[in-house]
This record gives sequence, structure tokens and C-alpha cells, in this order.
Amino acid sequence: MSAINRDRLATLLRGELDRFAGAHPRSRELYERAGESLIGGVPMPWMMRWAGGHPVFAAHGQGARIVDVDGHEYVDFALGDTGAMAGHSPASTANATAHQAGHGITMMLPTEEAIWVGEELTRRFGVPRWLFTLSATDANRTALRIARQLTGRPKVLVYSYCYHGSVDESFAVEQAGVTVAREGNVGAPVDVGETTIAIDFNDIDALERALATGQVAVVLAEPAMTNMGIILPDDGYMTALRDLTRKHDTLLIIDETHTFSAGPGGCTQAWDLDPDILVIGKAIAGGVPAGAMGLTEELVDRLFADEDADYEDTGGVGGTLAGNALSSAAMRATLEHTLHADAFSQMIPLATRFAEGVQSVIDTYDIGWNVTQLGCRAEYQFLPEPARNGTVAAASHDEDLEHYLHLHALNRGVMLTPFHNMALMCPQSTAADVDRHTQVFDEAVRDLVA
Ligand SMILES: Cc1ncc(COP(=O)(O)O)c(C=O)c1O
Repeated sequence: MSAINRDRLATLLRGELDRFAGAHPRSRELYERAGESLIGGVPMPWMMRWAGGHPVFAAHGQGARIVDVDGHEYVDFALGDTGAMAGHSPASTANATAHQAGHGITMMLPTEEAIWVGEELTRRFGVPRWLFTLSATDANRTALRIARQLTGRPKVLVYSYCYHGSVDESFAVEQAGVTVAREGNVGAPVDVGETTIAIDFNDIDALERALATGQVAVVLAEPAMTNMGIILPDDGYMTALRDLTRKHDTLLIIDETHTFSAGPGGCTQAWDLDPDILVIGKAIAGGVPAGAMGLTEELVDRLFADEDADYEDTGGVGGTLAGNALSSAAMRATLEHTLHADAFSQMIPLATRFAEGVQSVIDTYDIGWNVTQLGCRAEYQFLPEPARNGTVAAASHDEDLEHYLHLHALNRGVMLTPFHNMALMCPQSTAADVDRHTQVFDEAVRDLVA
């Protein structure tokens, strides 16, 4: 297996940084100006993570393409870290949104579109009752509150190195049998050990031990982890998760925000899962802010029978703009016209083509990495075998290597998500786009091992 020569990597990275600086004077100018009014020179801190030292500023995006303010066009495999999985500005979403924008954006009144979306989400995910939020984070926070209220139990179980949005309880990892805050956790309201039990994904014994404490209100789970590379469940793990949560009267939240890539009904439909609570956000409204949380009928009955909980006002659930007319119209248009079953049939083979292209490069240069696919999402990891949990995946993180590969691609018109070595397909992605990535990835790895 070829080893990475760190000196060579540092030299190549310097070369890519110079090339980026030379090609992006206008983005640089805007970034410097932004530093005077925006924290870190960006409107949202994650944007500081783009390769190159600063992000390119977008001029416009359409389908699978973004053009920046210096006039460079990119094949976009980042797709707004899944927010734009429907492609940039899909026509039906843009039209429905423009129409609704002229007819009442937010009125604190329901619109018929919201019913259509509830019915469609039920058809896809099998969960019968829905409420809407403005983000997946909000939907997860709501779900955790409801779960604690309904069970009367204090704790949430998560997987080490999961990500479910800026949800306090989820920034936890297991270290030597103890749940501790994940490195870098900002201003935690209380010690995460008080709110959370973290265990490794795919560890059934640890799951059983944690649930046997009787303290766990709910498991907050992605059916496949997607924020530390793609980590698929072992055969039988999802069945064990459902059986054990039922055995211990613990609720199960399936967060499909990223795993929606598996198909029109996410992993829940594809793998016949049976969650108590389902959360989804990001792509469902084509990039317009929206999230959704679904509950079983039994939980809804329990929720309304509970006279101690205020769901209608200041009980901690809901938001002024949530379920607004604009996001409802955008969700309907996106689900009805863009992210339907036919689109997935087109997107998923492209992710297979991407994974095969990456694998061929891994094999050619014998670099001992692996690539994993979940529907229309594929991702490579710097490990010989796919990780089975977040702890192993996190330990394989290689900042410089990732920076080099991302910047090398960006400098050649291919955009990858900053936090992942991930590529996502949208309905407008093409085989030629995928092959372009394979070619660029081949060049990057060839130069690295030369
Ligand atoms: C699985 C999962 N759930 C929830 C979220 C939160 O989404 P948002 O930041 O749009 O609220 C994310 C964000 O990356 C996610 O990956």
C-alpha cells in the first residue's frame, strides 16, 4: 500500500493555495470586505471551512452547477451539504415559491399545501402525523422535548460522532465507558453527561447496557451515519435497535435529513424501519428553510392527553415562522415535482458510478482507502475498510489530505462538501460530471503518490 509522503503533500497543498489565490481575486476582495461586518468574514461559521482559506462567493447556482463571482463554473457535488439535493433552484420550487411570496409569506395560518405535504410524508415514511419547523435542528430539538415529556425519562442516547444539528444533547462521545462532551463543544448549558448516553454505532451490547439503565427517553439515530463518512449499519443492527428500544420502552427517532439520499422515503422506506418519530429537513423544500417531524398516532394521543404540557404556546415547541406558507409551498413543489421516485432512479446509479470511479483510482495507486454509497450519496474514507462506527472514522480524519483533495478539485471546477469527502447527486447531475470528478481525483492522487 502506498504511504502518503507528508512533505510532498505540504508542497502540493501550497501549490494549490497559490493557484486558488491567483484565480479568485474578486472572492478574496469580497471576503476581506465581509470581514468588516460578518463574523469570520462569512454569514455562517461553517462557511469558514471551505478549502482555499476563504470560500468562493457565489454569483448564481442552477441545477448541478454553481458560478462564482470570478466567473468560474463548478460541478457541484456538495449541493449545500444536502440542502440542495433537489439541484439548485429547481424550476417548480422556484415558481411555487415566487408565487407564494406574492400571496403571503408567513401568516400564522395553515395553508392547504401543508396538508398535501403531511399526506405525502406519511405515504413515503409511514409515520402518520406531522408538524413543521424551519430546520432539521429544530425538528430534532422538538422531538427530544416530546420524547422526554412522554416518557418522563431524562436521557437521550446518541452515537459517538453523530451530528443532528446544533442540538445540545447530541455533542457527546463515549470515552472509556463515560459520556463526555465532544471536543470543541461551545458553551454547553449543562454537562452533557447529565443529558446523554453516547455509545458506538453498531455495538449492540453497549446499546442494551445503556437502555437497561431505564434512564433513556429516546434514541436519536441516523439509520446510517453520514457525518463521519458514510457508516452503514451491520446486518441486523437496525432490527436490534428497534427490538431493544421497544423492550426498554425507549422511543426511537430516525433522523432522515441526510439519509433521504437512500430513496424517496429514505432508509425508513428502503429498509422497512418503524420509528416512533421521524425527522427530516434540508432538501425537502429545495433549499427553502423547512424541517418536519412525524409522530405515530399513539404518541400524538399520549401527547394531547398530557395536561401538564403546553404544546400551543410557551411550552418550548414551535416557532413563529415554522410551517409558514412559503416553506409549505416549497416543500410541496419539491416533493411533487423534483425529489420523486423517478429522480432517485436516475441519481442513485450516478452515485454508483462515482463510487466505482473513486474505487478504480484507489486500486490503481494502491492507496488503501475505501468508498461507501448510500443511495445518491457516496463518500471515500482514508481507511482500508469502511468504518463501523464514528470513533474509528473520526480517528482516520486527515485535515491536510482532505484540504489538498478538496482544493485540488475546486481549482479544477469540482466542488466537494467541506466537512466530508462526499459527493451527492441531484436530478441534473450527469455521468460526464461524475467522470470529471474521477479524472480530477486520479490526477490528485497520482501527484500525491508520484
Ligand atoms: C443528520 C442531520 N440531522 C440534522 C441536521 C441539522 O440540519 P440543519 O443544520 O439544517 O438544521 C444535520 C446537518 O448537517 C444532519 O446531518
